[in-house]
Amino acid sequence: MQDKLLINGQWVEGSDGQTTDVTNPATGELIATVAAGSAEDAVAAVDAAAAAQKLWASTAPRQRAETLRACWQILLDNQEELAGIITAEQGKPLSDARGEIAYAAEFFRWNSEEAVRIEGSIRTAPGGTNKIIVHHPPVGVVVMVTPWNFPAAMITRKVAPALAAGNAVVIKPAPDTPLTALRVGELLHEAGVPAGLVNIVPTNDAAEWFEAATAHKATRMVSFTGSTATGRALLKVASGRVLRTAMELGGNAPFVVFNDADIDAAVEGAMVAKMRHSAETCTAANRFFVESGVAEEFTTKLSAAMRAVKTGDGTDPEVSCGPMINGAAIEKISGLVNGAVAAGATVALGGSAVDGPGHFFEPTVLGGVKPTDPITSEEIFGPVAPIIPFTDTAEMIAHANDTEMGLAAYVYTADIGRGMAVSEQLEYGMVGLNRGAMSDPAAPFGGMKQSGIGREGGSEGIYEFCETQYIATSW
Ligand code: SIN
Repeated sequence: MQDKLLINGQWVEGSDGQTTDVTNPATGELIATVAAGSAEDAVAAVDAAAAAQKLWASTAPRQRAETLRACWQILLDNQEELAGIITAEQGKPLSDARGEIAYAAEFFRWNSEEAVRIEGSIRTAPGGTNKIIVHHPPVGVVVMVTPWNFPAAMITRKVAPALAAGNAVVIKPAPDTPLTALRVGELLHEAGVPAGLVNIVPTNDAAEWFEAATAHKATRMVSFTGSTATGRALLKVASGRVLRTAMELGGNAPFVVFNDADIDAAVEGAMVAKMRHSAETCTAANRFFVESGVAEEFTTKLSAAMRAVKTGDGTDPEVSCGPMINGAAIEKISGLVNGAVAAGATVALGGSAVDGPGHFFEPTVLGGVKPTDPITSEEIFGPVAPIIPFTDTAEMIAHANDTEMGLAAYVYTADIGRGMAVSEQLEYGMVGLNRGAMSDPAAPFGGMKQSGIGREGGSEGIYEFCETQYIATSW
């Protein structure tokens, strides 16, 4: 197990000797003590990245593509080991952890294919005096701050396009889940990523680390996945050097079910949209708007499906909902559920935290939630489904859009025309129409409003890591 910092292809201790403890959220047991980097280490990592990036940017796109493809392969070859690390430090069930590695690896395969297709353009100036040539060189060094809920995939979703475009990266993984990040980094080097191109520096002092990394004159961009509150704070710091930013922030996804929907399919989709990866995803369905004609049937069937979920240690093959990441998460979820009940919601299932060890919350379904209850304005990030019955579609859409967030939304209806019309009216970057799953390396992932800036994945994703240069010339 790697427990040092990865800087310039070397495993090193933190310059001030600090360490951070990693615990298993299912048991509370200490599983590793990992070196924690200082501001000085962040600067050393940016130095290394800046030096490595020059050479990498000048390699042929095909060569970069081949290296990325080797990264895809090596992650798959080590899927079982990596899944075990994820389950140990993050808690998600092993089956989800395996799925995460397949998803994480796929960003490399997809971007290996994109590396050779970065397009530019040429046109004649309207006055006919010259040509306008537009091309897309790499940005340079990218500082990445990544979350604990997908400790592998949220790294590869950034690193793969960044490398494909010719950049180098410095990553601060989440303090709860550094082990996955470090092992992924080690494997990328085994696959042929040159030293210095991918640096991984966990830290105990995120603010100091980030200030130092972004103050470095070689840093050109910040890419972050996490909460909107943290995103705002990072944007303030990044603005000091007018850095390019890509932000994947919080969600508050509405899940809409119309009377004409296939209710069994809607429940199946709801289970994916709500419970995937133990309900700790930013795309998770957060508010279920269910038309009144099917509200009772949907609530009964969703409760039955949620009741069948086994919660526990993710190493148990029967478990499909692991622990929440920490005690603070449990406190937040409990507070939201209690607040909803105090405001008049009924508990159709669950409703409470489970005694430790570990940080578990019962799969919970709340009926009769009002669209303005406090639980509807917070990202729950836990296995709780608040159901809000509705009768008027226009009013429902207004409530669904009445949030600062705009990441993911879901719509279930048999009328595809209505589904498309409602999808267009929802102010969300991604809509699942009769689908509970939408994450795909081949699709542009990202949000509107305060859910983010930019897109990751798809053919759009690579351009986030590219500059635009225009050359005026005549011949
Ligand atoms: C996230 O929760 O941040 C990402 C979810 C996904 O990629 O599906």
